[in-house]
Amino acid sequence: MLNIALPKGRLGEKAYSLLEKIGYKCEEFDSGKRKLVFTDKKNGVSYFWVKPSDVAIYVERGVADVGVVGKDILLEQEPDVYELEDLKMGVCRMAVAAKKDFEDDTDKVLRVATKFVNVARGYYEGRGRQIDVIKLNGSIELAPILGLSDVIVDIVETGTTLKENNLEVKDEIFPVSARLIAGKAAYRFKNEEIERLLMQIREVLNDKD
Ligand code: PRP
Repeated sequence: MLNIALPKGRLGEKAYSLLEKIGYKCEEFDSGKRKLVFTDKKNGVSYFWVKPSDVAIYVERGVADVGVVGKDILLEQEPDVYELEDLKMGVCRMAVAAKKDFEDDTDKVLRVATKFVNVARGYYEGRGRQIDVIKLNGSIELAPILGLSDVIVDIVETGTTLKENNLEVKDEIFPVSARLIAGKAAYRFKNEEIERLLMQIREVLNDKD
């Protein structure tokens, strides 16, 4: 039995389609329901429908054997797991954004609003820039508009949210895409199963290229 943690939402649905294609089908899987655990004994698979930022925790603690999680979350949380494959889905980038007319006054501490506190700290530390990190949980774009922060560090996908709020990208920090991760104990004890899954995923991904 392989236990798989999927991130709730569009990315999780895409990941499920990929897994379904290679035989990890779960008859009762339905992302629209409130149900959070789906098991298909015949196909030897259990899916956990998890909040995206919690996927790595379930995998790290061995409750799920493998999971699908964004590189943004991996770099923020640095969980003790194996990153097995770039799934080339959920592609976006981590960026610094601000109001179009924003100019950095280096005499002042820069106020940075973000969900990605560690990413933001690391980025500005590398530049020797002193910052005041303001941790938010969503709608980060509001912060510079309302004067809560000077800049934001956030995910940009289509750029629509920034555009509609008169903000723009000032710097790109790193590209982001979904990764297949495995727990260290699971990788050891279910090695054959996880390697088989990985090989099949690679085949599908290569066919797409
Ligand atoms: C993410 C991110 C941006 C938006 C970017 O938010 O924080 O707000 O998507 O996408 P775009 O470039 O295509 O407009 P999400 O929808 O995850 O919600 P959140 O505001 O709760 O973070």
